[in-house]
Amino acid sequence: MERKICFFLAVIVACIWSSTAFTQGRSGEDGSNWMKNNIGILGRRTLKQICIPGSHDSGMSVYNKGTSLAHPCNVLTQSVPIRDQLQFGARYFDVRPVLEKGEFVTGHYTKLPGGHYQGGNGQSIRSIMDEINKFISSHNELVMVRLSKSLNTEKRRSFDSGEWESLFQLLDKTKNLFYTSNGNIYLPGVTLDQFTNKGTKGAVLYIINESGVNLGSRLGKGYFYYSNLDPYSKYSNTPHLQTMMKDQINKMKGSSSNSYFLLSWTLTQGGKNAGLCRVKMGKSIKDLSAEANSRIWDIVPEIGPYAFPNILYVDDIKDTSVVNVVMEINKKLKV
Ligand SMILES: *[C@@H]1O[C@H](CO)[C@@H](O)[C@H](O)[C@H]1NC(C)=O
Repeated sequence: MERKICFFLAVIVACIWSSTAFTQGRSGEDGSNWMKNNIGILGRRTLKQICIPGSHDSGMSVYNKGTSLAHPCNVLTQSVPIRDQLQFGARYFDVRPVLEKGEFVTGHYTKLPGGHYQGGNGQSIRSIMDEINKFISSHNELVMVRLSKSLNTEKRRSFDSGEWESLFQLLDKTKNLFYTSNGNIYLPGVTLDQFTNKGTKGAVLYIINESGVNLGSRLGKGYFYYSNLDPYSKYSNTPHLQTMMKDQINKMKGSSSNSYFLLSWTLTQGGKNAGLCRVKMGKSIKDLSAEANSRIWDIVPEIGPYAFPNILYVDDIKDTSVVNVVMEINKKLKV
């Protein structure tokens, strides 16, 4: 009898321990509240002096539909929806809006020679906005959503101005949009205290990265141009871990002192892996991200006062390991 009770207690303790170990990772940041919890050291810093986790192709945690060559192994970059990525600490989201049959969803498409697109659709834009709204009304964090690579799948072109307007009308229902009277604002120069009113409210920003889009009167009211953030962002375009690591760390050392710097800790399949992963003769995007994410702590010893990422951009955010690295970097900076 007693042994049985002991056994059950041991199981419960083990479960609690492993679940906290899983969600909190190495240095134990609370992924949902890490900015607010660290407002003492981050609040007076500008965005340029802070590192945050970013999620690559953030909407692609589900495979809803795809073209003939598409397969979850070459389309999915994430395992959990934006809601969970927020809870794991991600604060910069790469959202690629797709219009299909009158609905705005997210997509991951590649344009092939000849103008054909191959790829698939993920989470809907409305569900992303609902998840952000739910999060931001109870968390005093900063959330940036970059919108790029729009695609009308039926017409095989990017959005026209009417389609952008419809998307914006949907997104206008986002809560806690960050307002400023200065449409020319350089966002990396704004402090976290200014974005969040000293950690007392959340802030959401849409960053529009597409030519030909005119924000009109929305500019500064939660909507900004990519040029307002103006990041250095160059992915390595390789499936080889060592090549990517060396390349990104070199880029960081060369360019992060004079630009808002996105470090793309991501591997890219290339045609061979993308074509063969469905028959298991090539690596899936998630196989590659597991390789990259397992080495993410390698960045920390490379950090210096003039060499650090502002956005640590990764695939497959499914625990708080990235925010733990990010806070390690933020503590190391001692601005
Ligand atoms: C979109 O982003 C790319 C970098 O990823 C940049 O080179 C380009 O100028 C941006 N375009 C616009 C219109 O923001």
